[in-house]
This record gives sequence, structure tokens and C-alpha cells, in this order.
Amino acid sequence: MIIEDTARQIQSKIATFKPKTAIILGSGLGEFANALSDAISIPYAEIKDFPQSNVKGHAGKFIIGKLHGKDILCMQGRFHLYEGHAPARINEIILTLKLLGIEKLIVTNAAGSLHPEMPAGSLMLIKDHISLNTPNPLIGPDDEKYGPRFPDMSNAYTAEIREQIKALAAQLDIKLYEGTYYYSVGPCFETKAEIKMLQMLGGDAVGSSTVPEVIAAVHAGLKVLGISVITNLGTGLQATPPSHQETLTNAALGGEKLTRLISTYIKEAA
Ligand code: HPA
Repeated sequence: MIIEDTARQIQSKIATFKPKTAIILGSGLGEFANALSDAISIPYAEIKDFPQSNVKGHAGKFIIGKLHGKDILCMQGRFHLYEGHAPARINEIILTLKLLGIEKLIVTNAAGSLHPEMPAGSLMLIKDHISLNTPNPLIGPDDEKYGPRFPDMSNAYTAEIREQIKALAAQLDIKLYEGTYYYSVGPCFETKAEIKMLQMLGGDAVGSSTVPEVIAAVHAGLKVLGISVITNLGTGLQATPPSHQETLTNAALGGEKLTRLISTYIKEAA
């Protein structure tokens, strides 16, 4: 995948839209794109050399349209390392967004809670992540024109945006937890012992996406907002083992709140 060529292809299909905000929609959260008006849809399959996403609950297309008068680009369907995509692929996708003019990336995901008091259906604002010793999307030669070799991750989830979103959640009367997302590469769910370990290490929720995108986004100089929809308690913290079907079913529980919150954020701030 040559990012300049990919960006050119997408640009030629989105005509007059000039989105500055992109939203990556997680498992079971694809409905958000229905809120866009005058939308056009570009299946990933129609973009030469673009990877295909093949996870149930992920549609596999760009949807570009307007929300509150602002141009927004949605990725309905994302790429996980557990599908076999090379980590650098995630970097290429984020750099493609950057070349399209995107300045802010909103990442959403379905995640397992590491706290019984943060139940399924909750929203968790991601304040930080833990992902040492996992495949990094920046591994490989670095082209300084896109970003630094050693990016600073101290404000990966932009503090200013987190403050804005907390204020909006309070206005909307939406309970918003805030915590650290632990990246577990997947695709298997965690063992009970691993969940205990993640709790001890300071994780608040666990999931198998988002972090590679956020690392690439920080490297590319994008501002980031990340929100998890809690779909289950981690393995061993609930009576039944977590499953992908449970993830998809429960994503809808928090999905409606997430749509309202992000939509209001776009209206007020994006
Ligand atoms: N673990 C990993 N990924 C997840 C989970 C989980 O419990 N729930 C939703 N995505």
C-alpha cells in the first residue's frame, strides 16, 4: 500500500468533502455512521491495495458525510493485528488519513471491564493505555517527513479534548468513567489469571484494538479522543465467560449514549 496513492484514490471519490475529523467505529458501533447526512460510502474493496477487514460486526467501508454542518469521515470497520495485518499497515492507514487532511482522530471500541463496578453498557473515556511488548505500528524504517522516530506519548489522549468531553457528558447526564485501556493483542479472550494481572498493572478496561491506531496517530501529530463501550466484565469477573456475541449485543447498550456524546462533541467542539 502506497499511502500517497491511497489518499489520492480516496480524495478523488470524496469530491467536495474536506473532513478534519475521522472516527473509527468499533465492534457493534458502526451505527454511528447513520447519523451522517449527504453521506457517501466507499467500500474498502473499491480502493486498490487497501486491506480488507473481516471481523463480524465490522462493515469495511469509509462513510463520509455531514454532521451538524461539519464534514466527518467514519471508518466502519477497522483492522486488528489479530486478523494477520502487519502492524505497519495500521500506520499506513493513519498516515493516509493524515494526507487527506484529518487533524483529529476519534477512536471507539468495545472493551472488557476490569472493575465489577464498571458494568456492561458503561462508557469509559480512555485517559491512557498500556501496551508494552506488543507489536508496534511504527516498527520499520522511519520517514521523518511523517513524524518523529521516538514520539512522545505523554499526552496521547489529548488532555484538552478529555476535559471538553467530560463537561459535555455531564451536561448530557451521561455517566462517563475514565481509565486506562490495556491492549491485549487477541484474538482469544484473556485467561482469569491474565485479567488479575491486568488489574494489578493498572488497567481499567481491556481490548484488542485502538492502541496501534493511537500510536500511529500520535506519531502523525493527530489529536486523539478515545472512548470504550464496556460490553462485559473481564474473564473470571462475571458468571459466564465473555464472548464475541455478547460483545456485539452489549455494544448496542452503550452505543446509543456514545452516539449522543460524540455527536454533541462534534457540534460543540470538533
Ligand atoms: N477482552 C478483550 N477484548 C474485548 C473484551 C474482553 O473482555 N470485550 C470486548 N472486547
